[in-house]
Amino acid sequence: MIKILYGKCAHCASVNAADEITALLKSKPDAVLGLATGSSPIGMYKELIDRCAKGEISFKSVKSVNLDEYVGLSADHDQSYAYFMSHNLFDHVDIDKANTNLPNGLAADPAAECKRYDDVVASMGGVDIQVLGIGNNGHIGFNEPADYFTYGTNLVDLTDSTIDANSRFFASRDLVPTQAITMGIGQIMAAKKILLIALGKGKADILEKSLFGPVTPNVPASILRFFKGEVIVCADSEALSVIKEKHPEALA
Ligand code: GLP
Repeated sequence: MIKILYGKCAHCASVNAADEITALLKSKPDAVLGLATGSSPIGMYKELIDRCAKGEISFKSVKSVNLDEYVGLSADHDQSYAYFMSHNLFDHVDIDKANTNLPNGLAADPAAECKRYDDVVASMGGVDIQVLGIGNNGHIGFNEPADYFTYGTNLVDLTDSTIDANSRFFASRDLVPTQAITMGIGQIMAAKKILLIALGKGKADILEKSLFGPVTPNVPASILRFFKGEVIVCADSEALSVIKEKHPEALA
């Protein structure tokens, strides 16, 4: 079931998302979090850092698995997702870093690394909530539009549109890695709950397409319509603008 939480602004949508994580951590302090990178979850992470500092929530017993990592970037490269997670969350909350997991972008054998990460994800015994952003082309994690849905962790070639979109974080486009290791669609769909964050008008079309168009691997996020549990969409008014126009009943 898809539940859309309307946020007037990006901050409001981030607070809505943080409320979901807060409720989970209060009811299950040793929850397993599936975490995401990108600009979309940053506001939610800020809010969670704040709540942790105030003692409202704790990450002491939390375990986490991240969705993806660029191939070729070390954990201390400032554009690696390992670095992103440390700087945007882990270094500012009481999580035990030994309980956090990301694919290793420098693994000499990416196939072996995918297998290792599958085992890591399996060892969690189930992800309680999987945080997702959405790419401009509908990708989730780094699962790009394709002819089929993948199940497990896989090595992907990034599409030109993703490289273009992510080049804003690099000094030049040719410094953007061309490959990534990502949890597969099947692993994402195995979570108990999904929290999709979409902010800004750049996401309005793809969000509508994903939530109301045909379910197809060409729009990877569309598979969320077949999710067995609850998909909570925390979006701001800009990201929801096309849905508001075409499917006003969905926001009622
Ligand atoms: C990246 C990440 C995704 C993220 C997406 C959207 O490519 N691999 O996990 O959801 O881009 O990013 P943003 O939130 O910055 O729009």
